Amino acid sequence: MKLENQRILITGASSGIGKILTRELAQGKGNRILAVARHTENIPVAHNIVPFAADFSIPEEIDRTFAQLHESWGGVDICIANAGFAYREKLEEPDWHHTEQIFNLNTLGQIHTLEHFIRMNREASGEKKYFVSLISAVAMVPLPYYALYCASKFALDGFWRTFAFEKPDWLRVLRVYPVATKTAFFTRASGEQNPPLPFLQQKPEQVAAAILRGLRRNRSKVYPSRLFTLFYPLMRAIPCFSLLYSLNEKRKMERQLK
Ligand SMILES: NC(=O)c1ccc[n+]([C@@H]2O[C@H](COP(=O)([O-])OP(=O)(O)OC[C@H]3O[C@@H](n4cnc5c(N)ncnc54)[C@H](OP(=O)(O)O)[C@@H]3O)[C@@H](O)[C@H]2O)c1
Repeated sequence: MKLENQRILITGASSGIGKILTRELAQGKGNRILAVARHTENIPVAHNIVPFAADFSIPEEIDRTFAQLHESWGGVDICIANAGFAYREKLEEPDWHHTEQIFNLNTLGQIHTLEHFIRMNREASGEKKYFVSLISAVAMVPLPYYALYCASKFALDGFWRTFAFEKPDWLRVLRVYPVATKTAFFTRASGEQNPPLPFLQQKPEQVAAAILRGLRRNRSKVYPSRLFTLFYPLMRAIPCFSLLYSLNEKRKMERQLK
């Protein structure tokens, strides 16, 4: 897909991977970007970026965003569902709201966004449209003390695996599986500066570049870390390798949580 003359919706545009993607996509000739976050003051500024304040864990806010898209541009060609967050924690006290929050944004918010994207484009003139879903490598390998986050991304990945058999022909879906990316994400989740798995650590610029490459080449999946793509088959082939990795991460997290 050519990344020019596109109407683009991106969520999580105020930080990390989404902020860099917003900046990069704004360079494309004729692109128009509706850039969503709750804190719009951190969204990059350019003549073709429209900052839009919305909380994508709330369905009415997603409805409002698509109403705005319809009114302003009459539609959208690329939707990048990137907003997401995690908690690092020990589950000790019952707290329904807490659990609900993470699924509302990471899982249900993306699915509701897709529903709007489909409704908006189902009459489209045969041109391919792209939906990009930021999942995570934790949908493939568990990260101890991030059980709710992993579950929200596992659920999302399960949705996409099934939806692949139902999706309309005009719709392309790009599933992205980043790992240990150095953004504010893990600081927000745990207070720690550095992501876990230091040997797999990546810059958000690398993840954004891999996503843009995936879009240009019409890919359906992107694994931004080459090292992870080497390790993962090994983990599947030798299950004790995966178990040792998770136990090692558990030990490290327990030291940090003390
Ligand atoms: N960093 C990693 O290692 C990593 C690894 C795997 C997958 N991922 C996934 O990649 C995506 C981007 O992560 P990142 O590392 O770039 O994180 P980040 O730097 O923390 O950015 C998260 C973005 O999501 C927005 N956001 C959070 N809650 C929101 C809400 N309720 N409504 C609307 N926007 C909201 C934030 O903006 P506001 O606070 O202004 O709303 C921010 O722009 C996430 O889906 C994450 O799960 C990250």
